[in-house]
Amino acid sequence: MTHDLTLPRARHEDAPKGLAERAVLDPHRPRFHFTAPGGWLNDPNGLAHWDGVYHLFYQYNPLAAAHHRIHWGHATSRDLVTWTDEPVALVPGTEGPDRDGCWSGVLVDDDGTPTLVYSGRHGERELPCVATGSPDLRSWRKDPGNPVIAAPPEGDLTAFRDHCVWQENGVWRHLVGSGIRGTGGTAFLYESEDLRDWRYVGPLLTGDAGTGTAADLDWTGTMWECVDLFRLDGTDILAFSAWDEGTTHYPLYWTGTYEGDTFVPRALHRLDYGQRYFYAPQSTRDALGRRVMFGWLQEGRDEDAMAEAGWCGVMSLPRVVTLGTDGSLVQAPVPELARLRRDAVRTGPLTVPDGVHMRLDGINGDQLDIEVTLRLAPGALARLVVRESADGSERTVIEVARAEDGTGTLRLRREASSLDPSVDTEPRYGELPLNGDGAVDLRVLVDHSALEIFANGRALAARVYPTLPDALGVAVAAAGEVAVERIDAWRMAAVFDGPRPLWP
Ligand code: FRU
Repeated sequence: MTHDLTLPRARHEDAPKGLAERAVLDPHRPRFHFTAPGGWLNDPNGLAHWDGVYHLFYQYNPLAAAHHRIHWGHATSRDLVTWTDEPVALVPGTEGPDRDGCWSGVLVDDDGTPTLVYSGRHGERELPCVATGSPDLRSWRKDPGNPVIAAPPEGDLTAFRDHCVWQENGVWRHLVGSGIRGTGGTAFLYESEDLRDWRYVGPLLTGDAGTGTAADLDWTGTMWECVDLFRLDGTDILAFSAWDEGTTHYPLYWTGTYEGDTFVPRALHRLDYGQRYFYAPQSTRDALGRRVMFGWLQEGRDEDAMAEAGWCGVMSLPRVVTLGTDGSLVQAPVPELARLRRDAVRTGPLTVPDGVHMRLDGINGDQLDIEVTLRLAPGALARLVVRESADGSERTVIEVARAEDGTGTLRLRREASSLDPSVDTEPRYGELPLNGDGAVDLRVLVDHSALEIFANGRALAARVYPTLPDALGVAVAAAGEVAVERIDAWRMAAVFDGPRPLWP
């Protein structure tokens, strides 16, 4: 294996001992979600299905569980279930435009040459950089001409970073996320013949920052991070992570039509109701023709807790994203994950009497996959409880409600998720499409602190940190007329076990 000289190997010795060893001792560390070996993980980067291998790069600090001098970690998989750690792909330069971090970006196939387009960070400046890879994608050489765009377009901008790059009629097109102060978030479009020499075309689409907050359904923030443009069944999707000066982070998407130099939006949607708990998603089209997406499940605990744990940040399970009949996205974990299911327990149909909290004794654990089919009468509410302690003092509650007017709501209640007062317990919720008969297909994946909920194709990811070792219980409860048609549950096998090298 050859390494570019820009990767200072001496850093191996600098790495604090014990991050990876501490990480595996943490009861909150997921076992079937991808995590970094230790230290800090944020966005998925460079997603690709290359010669039959899935490549997942990610924002990584192997030196501490803190966001500082970000590297690109790298892992590969043949099945989207089990992962192999690969050598760290990008290390911030000792000089040059990325000396303070190699921020988010993508991998493209430049006529057979694997090529990364990423944001170099130096001080407060972020500029597009390029690196080319060996055929096995294990060693990377930064382009001596970096940065490949010397300055952002004119204007008072909130940021200039993150990339979506594709080839169209022999020409490379490139979106860079940004925001125009006082106007709104945007994505600037560029064009190039060689990925190095870029012509500025203009903003593809600009949002309206307005005066609203994330509670407003038309809010799109002041900056668009990690813009991702793709097409599903003739509908164009412009996904982005809306950010507003640090208070709110929400992954959103527009449906609409990409018309070359502009995007004509049709409707704005929320990609995951977990908000910052499914952030900065990136997607790729795999060899099976599927749109596969990953997002970053941020922590809900404070910096001291992360530093002590020795690791932080979880990659979501890979999701297949399709277009629903109502024109919005439908999300589901990739079917390959069913391979981890063990010890099936099948129950139902059940009648859950109004007001009764029914413990499901056969189902418990902190690595679970639970499928429930529910039918709700107008005005009814169903609860699926996970991570419940024997004394009931800790519990995480997933609520599905059908209002009298037929509208549905999916809600995650975390106020009793943890006895630790320092962790985030804010609720999360969003609109849930219901059929006329009030049916809901609910799927809940519990992986220690990582929780991913899918309800009729809508997604809600979050983190929970129960403190009691017996917070493993599962229960159902109902208010009003609820039919639990079936519950199928499995224990999920672990994919990650002992410590992994921080610098594979
Ligand atoms: C999103 C983000 C990106 C940036 C990266 C830095 O979470 O802020 O905009 O490139 O993370 O790690």
